[in-house]
Amino acid sequence: MTEQVAEVITIDGPSGSGKGTISRLLANKLGWHFLDSGALYRLVGLASRRHAIDFEDKQGLATLAAHLDVEFVSDDEGWETRIFLEGEDVTNGIRSEECGNDASRVAAVQVVRDALFERQRAFLRPPGLIADGRDMGTVIFPTARLKIFLTASLEERASRRYKQLKEKGLNANLAALLDELAIRDERDKSRSAAPLVAAKDAVTIDTSNSGIDEVVAEVYALWLRVNE
Ligand code: C5P
Repeated sequence: MTEQVAEVITIDGPSGSGKGTISRLLANKLGWHFLDSGALYRLVGLASRRHAIDFEDKQGLATLAAHLDVEFVSDDEGWETRIFLEGEDVTNGIRSEECGNDASRVAAVQVVRDALFERQRAFLRPPGLIADGRDMGTVIFPTARLKIFLTASLEERASRRYKQLKEKGLNANLAALLDELAIRDERDKSRSAAPLVAAKDAVTIDTSNSGIDEVVAEVYALWLRVNE
């Protein structure tokens, strides 16, 4: 029996660069699996609050991350994924800015990242995987044949987050979002553990002035070219 190889395209970049939507659309277009690695860090943040584990307690956080009871359940079309933490549906709850900020704090802890490494690698299954995150191309899937780094201006990213939160019926304040995104970006870029940086062999795409479909088409064309 020949082994079926799973392909992977990594999509990294800062919050609000369009990664989530673009990754999901690509996964659908290709019929591939999808890894939302940011959700894992959000879940560790949420679980640590629930279990009263201090963000300074690195070992406690790592143990929690290693034993995290989570389930990703996709609908039949593979479009919507519901996320369960210890049996409770937290799909919408983990999208709050508080959860994003907590995620960015626990994500700066190297032992937490180590604890989530294999869990992320396990998403790689045939026919392929779209891996969305900050270190997909640099750390988790360094041999990916196509690596994308998405960027967009801070203002554009904040305005997108604002719209997303409003659509979900969550509280949002544009000025506060700008500040929080700037702080989160700085923390993600300056941390010693897997800082947010484009892989050397990544293709950088600025999405500030592009529509979602345009970017999806661009990445898809790049993938076809890689396979020529
Ligand atoms: O992508 P999302 O906004 O859900 O990620 C939340 C936080 O999780 C990010 O700000 C980042 O600090 C962290 N993260 C990470 N590595 C990843 C994905 C997310 O450090 N691969």
